Amino acid sequence: MHVAIIMDGNGRWAESRGLHRICGHKEGAKRVEEIVRYASTVGITNLTLYAFSTENWQRPSLEIQTLFQLIKLYLRKKVHVLKLENVKISFMGRRDQLPKSVVTEMHSSEAATQKCTGLQLNIAVDYGGRDEILRAVNKFMCANIATSSKIDEATLRKYSDLKDQPDPDLIIRTGGDQRLSNFMLWHAAYSELSFVDTLWPDFSVQELSSAMKSFDAQNRRFGTIPQVAE
Ligand code: FPP
Repeated sequence: MHVAIIMDGNGRWAESRGLHRICGHKEGAKRVEEIVRYASTVGITNLTLYAFSTENWQRPSLEIQTLFQLIKLYLRKKVHVLKLENVKISFMGRRDQLPKSVVTEMHSSEAATQKCTGLQLNIAVDYGGRDEILRAVNKFMCANIATSSKIDEATLRKYSDLKDQPDPDLIIRTGGDQRLSNFMLWHAAYSELSFVDTLWPDFSVQELSSAMKSFDAQNRRFGTIPQVAE
């Protein structure tokens, strides 16, 4: 099962406690550690986390720097444990605008976990769904410059950031808003959507588990064509 999460509400979590927004991101990073650990144990095969969107560049530079620091710290601190737990790390999004130190950390964690065969963890950094589609089309056009071949669904998928991974079965958004905010626009075509009011730093493994249970129940009701008795 592929679960993708829009981790929203860090800023409000901090502000409601009279703290700076970056404290919310720091607390949010702790939830990332817990959720990744938990995902490995409950049959999630692919977990995608929206850590930094193409729109997040509009935030104050201190907040942007903190987010990159947290991502780097998470990778540096956790990559060995993730490798031991057989977690394979990949990234979605563009890399050409990211600080070099972030890209270096991304490369080394991908390389270190390349052969892992357990949970596939995707972290979306400088990611936007529209940008992903445009990059895929542009890559296709560059590769097919000499021909006039047209792009089809299977080919677009091949050039997308997820390549051979399945689309998310379930997309969870924390923080109360009910929209996708440019997340996995191509891949979300048939995903079940779950919007929860809980702010990301308060999101727990129990809530993930209950979102998965509702998904299972929904799937049992609508997922299969009932067998007609002969
Ligand atoms: C949205 O909350 C959250 C983000 C923009 C960043 C998410 C990042 C983390 C949880 C931590 C770092 C990630 C990893 C993978 C270690 P918001 O600030 O938009 O909240 P608001 O809607 O309350 O303002």
